[in-house]
Order: sequence, then structure tokens, then C-alpha cells
Amino acid sequence: MASDHDSTRRGVMTALAALPLGAAAAANAQGGELRRQGSRTLVAYFSRSGNTRVVAGLIHRARGADLFEIQPARPYPEDYLETVAQARMETDSGHEPPLAATITAMADYDTVFLGFPIWGETAPPVVRSFLSGHDLSGRTLIPFITHGGYGPGKSLDVLASHAPKARLLTGFVMEMDQERRTMERVTSWLRAVSSHTAIRPGSSG
Ligand SMILES: Cc1cc2nc3c(=O)[nH]c(=O)nc-3n(C[C@H](O)[C@H](O)[C@H](O)COP(=O)(O)O)c2cc1C
Repeated sequence: MASDHDSTRRGVMTALAALPLGAAAAANAQGGELRRQGSRTLVAYFSRSGNTRVVAGLIHRARGADLFEIQPARPYPEDYLETVAQARMETDSGHEPPLAATITAMADYDTVFLGFPIWGETAPPVVRSFLSGHDLSGRTLIPFITHGGYGPGKSLDVLASHAPKARLLTGFVMEMDQERRTMERVTSWLRAVSSHTAIRPGSSG
């Protein structure tokens, strides 16, 4: 029969077993979460509406890679059009918004998969911030890019100029759903809803 001491010990061992993940996360990312499994491969991505996040998750699981979400210190507006306007201003002025978190031990990685959506025909400003804030010299850099139909634009030039000493490989580029299209369809449907007549007049359930 297990003593109280044994069960306490088991509890402590279970807690300790869970610790390395949390401890490594705290040690290697400043200000945000790095999902760390001790891999030499990092998947870092930025995603607003989730498309790029899906691709990042697939690479993360297929490669057993560490996973890091790039986020601005000040979140972009919820509103799509406000985000488009802010992104355009930041891109035009070359502004690199501060990040919510950075990777403190980039030296732990040989390979970085870097994912982002195309914003205004180029890489989003926070991706420039990420590249400027981390030394990718000597690392293999593999982009994965999602866009709404207009292709990768100038984003690959941005990677080349902001990580000049990385070994830049041909990445993955995919057209995915556009928030703009969803927003326009939903908005016009909602407008129509108010003028709809019931499908079965008189039926109140
Ligand atoms: C601010 C903003 C600007 C965008 N600009 C472009 C563009 O120039 N070309 C394009 O093909 N898609 C553009 N898109 C669409 C996104 O690139 C596309 O929907 C992408 O898959 C979104 O990825 P996410 O869900 O990971 O945020 C833009 C989206 C946003 C929010």
C-alpha cells in the first residue's frame, strides 16, 4: 500500500516532469510564449486571421519543431480596414513596431521556418521587426507565405535585405481565404437580413 510520503513524492515528480517545458519557455523567450521541445528547428510565424497559423502548426507537428508566434507589443485593431490603413502607414514609413516578445537564444537553432501573410504586397511590418531583432546569420531561413490572390509581392526581397547572412531557401507560397472577402460577404448579408421576410410567414416556432 502506498504511504502518504509516496503519494506526495509522486505528485512532486509529476510536477517536476512538467517543468522543463515551462522552464525552457521562460528561459528562451522574452515576454511571450515559445513552445519549446528542444529542437534545432524553429517555426516563427505571424498571423492575423489564422491562415498562416494553420500552416505553422502543420510544420511544427511534422518536424517536432519549436513554435513561436510573432506578435506586436500593441495589437493591431480588430477592424480589418483600420489594420489595412495602419499597415500601409507603417510600411510606407519603414516603421518596425516593437514586438511583444523576442527569442533570447536564437543560437539554439540551425533552421528557422518563417511564416507570414502578405500585407500590402510585402511582408508585414512586424516581420521586419522580427528579422531586425534577431541575428539569423548562418541559419537556414525557409519562408512560408499566405496571400489573398496577389502572390508574395516584394516579401522575398525583404527577407534578403533584413537577413542578409541567412541561407534563404525557396519557401512555400499559398493563396488562402481573404478576410476582406469574408467581411464584404458577411456585411452585405447582414444588411439584407434586416429586409428579409420569414421563409414560413406566420410560423413562430
Ligand atoms: C492588412 C492586410 C493587407 C493585405 N494585403 C494583401 C496583399 O497585398 N495581397 C494579397 O494577396 N493579400 C493581402 N491580404 C490578404 C492576406 O495576405 C491573406 O488573407 C492571408 O492568407 C492572411 O493570413 P492570416 O490569416 O495568417 O493573417 C492582406 C490582408 C491584410 C489583413
